[in-house]
Amino acid sequence: QATSWRRLSFSNITALAPMVRVGTLPMRLLALDYGADVVYCEELIDIKMALCQRQVNDVLQTVDFVAPDDRVMFRTCEREKDRVVFQMGTADPERALTVAQLVEKDVAAIDVNMGCPKEYSTKGGMGAALLSDPDKIEAILRTLVAGVSKPVTCKIRILPSLEETLSLVRRIEKTGVAAIAVHGRFKEERPRHPVHCDYIQAVAQAVSIPVIANGGSLDLVKSNGDIQEFRKAAGASSVMLARAAMWNPSVFSGQGLLPVERVMEEYLKYAIRYDNNPFNTKYCLCQMLRDKVESPLGKQVQSAQTNAEISEAYGLQDFYRQTQEQLQARRDAVQSGSRP
Ligand code: FNR
Repeated sequence: QATSWRRLSFSNITALAPMVRVGTLPMRLLALDYGADVVYCEELIDIKMALCQRQVNDVLQTVDFVAPDDRVMFRTCEREKDRVVFQMGTADPERALTVAQLVEKDVAAIDVNMGCPKEYSTKGGMGAALLSDPDKIEAILRTLVAGVSKPVTCKIRILPSLEETLSLVRRIEKTGVAAIAVHGRFKEERPRHPVHCDYIQAVAQAVSIPVIANGGSLDLVKSNGDIQEFRKAAGASSVMLARAAMWNPSVFSGQGLLPVERVMEEYLKYAIRYDNNPFNTKYCLCQMLRDKVESPLGKQVQSAQTNAEISEAYGLQDFYRQTQEQLQARRDAVQSGSRP
């Protein structure tokens, strides 16, 4: 089929940014429902992913990558197959390739995180540590581009001077990547600092591949209409949103922002349907609750230990029960079908 061979395009798109803990399957599906074109998974570390086994989950109708301790590190499904970008943390070309080849037929593209300034990323030479090792960047990206059939991209922060930033992105472009996401902040800048749109603009002019502008959530992008403004201010082909989407993923919707109460319910339905880890479900709901996290609802969410208890907080017990019945029916069918 022609569509299954179409490569994901990164030009003129709006994307859900990679976010640790936030970018799991329920949030990605919700972002797609509201109109995101592309959704990045949370950063997954190559060393951990390399130990995972790919398992088809017939009950949930997902593909799971399961660690030796049975934890599901990455869960995906048909619905997002042409839209999900697998982001990894890596500092090793060969290991990166091993992981990329493990997941490539289940995802639309592979991304390398080169912007995370947190210690757990940089201590292994990953994330923003890569920015000071362009030879390593080149080796990783070239190895991936040559070794996988899907588009390869990377996400960087800006370097201390414009010259250095431009020389880096020109080197990156030569590796054959399909796009570059640029978080317009310096490595030591915090998320509350203003984003440097002038740097992103200069990058977009310096390369011919699509540039995905990132970093606009706090001061620039509060509603859907602001996305276009940010795109223009950054002179970029595309936009990637992290916090604005984490607070209310309906920011992707051209119909306007939905009340977050309703968005949380839709989120929770996906979390139930895909058996999301309850602590992850809670974490994401608390991000959406924001300053209401100490409200009666917020307290109920915080004290819940299971998806069933979280459902009660939102009055979704019936939905929870019906979904469990459906999943049980499928479990029974799968088990009887596999009998000799
Ligand atoms: C992030 N960010 C991030 N970046 C990345 O490349 N991989 C990741 O796993 C994460 N994890 C993550 C978690 C959370 C909770 C936040 C808020 C952020 C950074 C993110 O993708 C983005 O670059 C910045 O947040 C700036 O974009 P916004 O928030 O201004 O749209």
